[in-house]
This record gives sequence, C-alpha cells and structure tokens, in this order.
Amino acid sequence: MDGSNVPDAAPVLILLGPPGAGKGTQARKLEEGFGLVQLSTGDLLRAAVAAGTEAGKQAKAVMESGALVSDEIVLAILKDRLAEPDCAKGVILDGFPRTTVQAEALDELLKASGQRINAAISLDVDDAEMVTRIAGRFTCGGCGEGYHDTFKAPVVAETCDKCGSTEMVRRADDNAETVASRLEAYHAQTAPLIDYYDGKGALVRVDAMGDIGAIASDLGAIVSRVSA
Ligand code: AP5
Repeated sequence: MDGSNVPDAAPVLILLGPPGAGKGTQARKLEEGFGLVQLSTGDLLRAAVAAGTEAGKQAKAVMESGALVSDEIVLAILKDRLAEPDCAKGVILDGFPRTTVQAEALDELLKASGQRINAAISLDVDDAEMVTRIAGRFTCGGCGEGYHDTFKAPVVAETCDKCGSTEMVRRADDNAETVASRLEAYHAQTAPLIDYYDGKGALVRVDAMGDIGAIASDLGAIVSRVSA
C-alpha cells in the first residue's frame, strides 16, 4: 500500500469490537463531536455490493455467510477511501483492521506517511448482549442514522429523528445464523488484535455494556486525550 492522505497531525483512531459492540454508533458520535471521518469497511463493502462492482460481487456471498471478506479486497477498498480529501481531517476506523494481515498493512501505510495510530479502542461487550443489540437494529435509509427497537427507538415510530425519512432498513446479515458465524470470525481472527495493539502500547479498553451516552462520553475523553 502507498501512503495515506491523512496528514501527520490528524488523528488515526481504531474502534475494535465484536458485531453489535456499538462501533458504528460511537464512530458517528465521534465524527460529529470531533470533525473526524468514520471509515467503516462494512459500509464500504455494502456500498460495493449495492453498486455491483467486481469487489462487491466477490464480497456479497462472503458477507451473507458471516465470514470475513478477503484481506486483498478490503485493503484495496480502504486504501481508495483513505486517499479521498476529507480524510485529511483525521479518521476513525470502524471494523478495520480485522486480521493481523490488515493490521500490519495499516502499520506500513501509516509508516510510509510518517503517521501513527493514536489509539486502538476496544469496545468490550459480552456475546449475549451483542445478539440482543443486533436483533433489534435498523438504520435510516435516508441518512444512515442507526436505531434499535428497544435501546434507541426514533421519537416518531418509523421516522428518522435526524432527516425525517420513513425508509428504515434492516441488514441481511443480522439473522441468528449469520450472527453466530460473525461472532466466531471475531473471536478467531479479530480478537487477537487486542494483544497486537496492547503490545504496541496503543490499546485502550472501554466497558461498552453501559448506555450509549455514557460510553460516548468515555470515548470523547479518550479521544481528547490521545489527540492532544
Ligand atoms: P460490519 O458492518 O463491520 O459489521 P460488524 O463488525 O459485524 O459490526 P456491526 O455493524 O454489526 O456492529 P457495530 O459494532 O457497528 O454496532 P452498532 O453500532 O450498529 O461488517 C459486516 C461484514 O462485512 C462482516 O461480517 C464481513 O463479512 C465484512 N467486513 C467488514 N469489515 C471487514 C474487514 N475489515 N475485513 C474483512 N471483512 C470485513 O450497534 C448495534 C445495535 O445496538 C444498534 O441498533 C445500536 O443502536 C445498538 N447499540 C449500540 N450501542 C448500544 C449500547 N451501549 N446499549 C444498547 N444498545 C446499543
């Protein structure tokens, strides 16, 4: 990979965590609060699937099974996104890296640009909570705001609080069978990155079992500290 478009001083934050840990929810809050750009490889892959690109065609069946898409495809998609001008504000990597190969490729990419990871933040939740969160999840089709049947329902049913759209979307991979595979992939391939970043002195662990606002406040304090 060549260098990224993120300048030296701009923060590079990683949100690690299993499916349903709240990575997307919290990344969007940090984006709003700190003017950073959320880079979700899940969203980028879903966009590639929807656009019918070659990468999207290859990723579709893998994502539906709950397994991880190949490092090659994910790295190519992430590299293209990082080269876009808005990433100069600093980035929150949501759902990337997910394998040691991806983590090492990111290290090389940042090294080539004289950058570093400010923090790899692990959102810690237990497996039972993840399944509950994923089962109730839906998203606004207009602006992408995330909701939950129990924990974060819109003020007016089926209407987005943010943009007023009434188009709500549930993800194809949010079914019990696929969630079990996604959890398995997390424990086998992604959880080892907790030790990887701990070894580099970049790991910060956050108890993500509490309510969304309290976790956002903890994360805000961490981001202020590591970005200073
Ligand atoms: P991706 O889209 O990244 O999905 P994921 O990691 O499974 O994570 P989720 O989006 O399901 O959960 P989240 O942690 O963002 O939780 P959220 O904030 O939505 O990946 C999908 C697929 O793409 C993968 O399976 C793989 O195939 C592929 N892929 C992606 N990246 C890849 C990579 N790097 N390498 C290879 N393959 C890759 O929260 C969930 C729900 O809970 C929401 O409804 C929310 O409102 C609610 N909630 C959040 N926080 C709380 C809280 N504190 N209390 C109560 N409810 C909460």
